[in-house]
Amino acid sequence: MIRAEDVASLRKMTLGWRKAGQGIGFVPTMGALHDGHLSLIAAAKRDCDRVIVSIFVNPMQFNNPEDLAKYPRTEGRDSDLLRKAGVDLLFLPTPAVVYPAGFSSVVSVTGLSAELEGAHRPGHFDGMATVVSKLFLMTGADRAYFGEKDWQQLQIVRRMVTDLNIPIQIVGCPTFRDPDGLAMSSRNLRLSPADRQRAPVLPAAMARAAAAIAAGASVHEVLDKAQAEVLAGGFDSIDYIALHGAEDLRAMSTLDRPARLLAAVWIAGIRLIDNIAVDPA
Ligand code: PAF
Repeated sequence: MIRAEDVASLRKMTLGWRKAGQGIGFVPTMGALHDGHLSLIAAAKRDCDRVIVSIFVNPMQFNNPEDLAKYPRTEGRDSDLLRKAGVDLLFLPTPAVVYPAGFSSVVSVTGLSAELEGAHRPGHFDGMATVVSKLFLMTGADRAYFGEKDWQQLQIVRRMVTDLNIPIQIVGCPTFRDPDGLAMSSRNLRLSPADRQRAPVLPAAMARAAAAIAAGASVHEVLDKAQAEVLAGGFDSIDYIALHGAEDLRAMSTLDRPARLLAAVWIAGIRLIDNIAVDPA
């Protein structure tokens, strides 16, 4: 596995691959890799001749400095996992490579960024879209792989590449879950053993709520019940548990089109997010 820390060395490699007619897959990450990331890499390896993974904890997408400081960094372990997974190139830019002195551009995808995570984490999606567009342009990859766990992020990235004519295909991959149902996330590493045991209350309540809404129950009543179950199950507070259009991400009060039930909840100072599909019969 080759390591590149600057754009010139990254491009030297990708140029050679391009000349040889090889297709390039890309998995952007912030490190602290888990099986969810490895499933994205496996999908990229299936589809593409070469696979690039980036690790960059992007300061621009953290609205909370404490969250940035506490974000798990496990670079040695990550690098071993990537080598074993057969990744061709690990791109590890420094903040100065991504945001050189004088950097003043922002990619902002309006509309889709406004609600849910956008409302609770001001600036988060501008930071995400800015770094992801830069990484797409730096790698020149043909396909990029994103987990459905960050559903809103995935919709925003799709919109962005369409709007900006970035020649890359976005591939969404199903959320990877632990056997007890908890969606895999780098933030799970920060849960105490007791909180980790309580956390599957969230996906269980969401699965029940999704089934009830799909069966025709009142959206409002089902969401109230799910919130009560999550709080009773040991979570401290809820940013949202809400039903939104799967693609337009607009809030829904009746199930009149394919939807997504999305949640962001707090347990012992750690914020977990999850989402599942709710399809009309
Ligand atoms: O999903 C993430 O880990 C990040 O938002 C991403 C896509 C790597 C951009 O920093």
